[in-house]
Amino acid sequence: MTGRVEIHRGNILDLNVDAIVNAANSTLMGGGGVDGAIHRAAGPQLRQACMPLAPCPAGEVRVTPGFSLRAEWVFHTVGPVWRGGAEGEAATLAMCYEACMEELVQRGLATIAFPAISTGAYGFPLGEAGDIAVRVTRRYAARRDLTVYLAAFDGETAEALGKALTRSPKAD
Ligand code: APR
Repeated sequence: MTGRVEIHRGNILDLNVDAIVNAANSTLMGGGGVDGAIHRAAGPQLRQACMPLAPCPAGEVRVTPGFSLRAEWVFHTVGPVWRGGAEGEAATLAMCYEACMEELVQRGLATIAFPAISTGAYGFPLGEAGDIAVRVTRRYAARRDLTVYLAAFDGETAEALGKALTRSPKAD
């Protein structure tokens, strides 16, 4: 495996990466959780830059500069709202990770940080979300020299991601 996928226990804003992923909503106008934290840290230019890019459908990504963030880029992606699992939520969440990893590769970037998309306000179960995050990011990291940080803002998320890393095969 040339690249690596690691867990970062703490605030995603502490990571020094090329691209930071925002768990946004389709309006891209900010919100609570990690969305609120990223917008507060990036400054008001982030919202201005998002306006012409909205609405963003679930599973897709929109890219803006990071402005006052350390990260050069923000990949705004909209995760699925969990509605019991029978409405394609898992596939949509996987699309978020794939779309962001595709952007990373297309732009020739090397490092990225993800929050646990959809596992907060959107209610996606942590275990399944962790498996999806690890499966998709490891597939990309197995073929390219990329570094992926999965940020866990709390202990429960860190534990779920750790189990997902242990369960998932290292190389495809
Ligand atoms: N760093 C890392 N992770 C964070 C941070 C942070 N600063 N703040 C929150 N998180 C974590 C949460 O603890 C959770 O594990 O990000 C994960 C995703 O939770 P949410 O931010 O609630 O995102 P999501 O579940 O995808 O819901 C998106 O919430 O904030 C609104 O505008 C957003 O409508 C959208 C919805």
